[in-house]
Amino acid sequence: MSSSTNPFDNSAKNWDTRRMSVQLAEVADLLLPLLQLTDQQHWLDFGSGTGLLSVPLAAKVKQVTALDTSEKMLEVLAEKGIGNIQTLNQDVFSGLPCDYDGVVSCMALHHVESTEVLLKQFYQHLKHDGQLALVDLYAEDGSFHGDNEAKGVKHLGFDIEALRATAEALGFVEVSFAEIMQLQHRNGREYPLFVMLARRS
Ligand SMILES: C[S@@+](CC[C@H](N)C(=O)[O-])C[C@H]1O[C@@H](n2cnc3c(N)ncnc32)[C@H](O)[C@@H]1O
Repeated sequence: MSSSTNPFDNSAKNWDTRRMSVQLAEVADLLLPLLQLTDQQHWLDFGSGTGLLSVPLAAKVKQVTALDTSEKMLEVLAEKGIGNIQTLNQDVFSGLPCDYDGVVSCMALHHVESTEVLLKQFYQHLKHDGQLALVDLYAEDGSFHGDNEAKGVKHLGFDIEALRATAEALGFVEVSFAEIMQLQHRNGREYPLFVMLARRS
């Protein structure tokens, strides 16, 4: 997905006020207490969008790199003027510029074809003992996005046992899953989100 064709560019200006985003903004309050955070750490937020997770994370660590293919989403984030957030407008598969103390991500995993290649990339760019925290949808029937192809959806949520097996085969340890919240959809249904926590050994 290049930045010029990124479907999220069109949603960027209104992203933070969307019903779904208002709910996703609460993920940080639930997720950050599960992490070991210090003011010396550098974290990567994969698929950061407008920074719903990056901004609260940046208040607790030294530096956050907010990586996203959507130039427009990152422009909205940059306008928030948070000094210790560095935006990085590139595909996660283009290569990461350094190693991180931790990687977080919210609702970006289902946009990536190969979770194995992605997790391997994270493993290779996490420092020793580095933390991984991914939030996404449990397996669903495709009704969450509706027009899945147009929205760049590659997975209709995830079978968490398959994700666990992938992560453990790559060498991640302390792999755990828990439901972190239920998203209320305008279609009247609720969709549970999981958080996957793991460490690089
Ligand atoms: C559903 S949005 C979530 C944004 C934000 N994390 C939030 O919770 O509001 C998914 C984001 O992942 C980004 N994304 C998808 N595939 C990507 C890739 N291969 N590399 C970098 N960013 C990607 C999209 O551009 C989009 O901004």
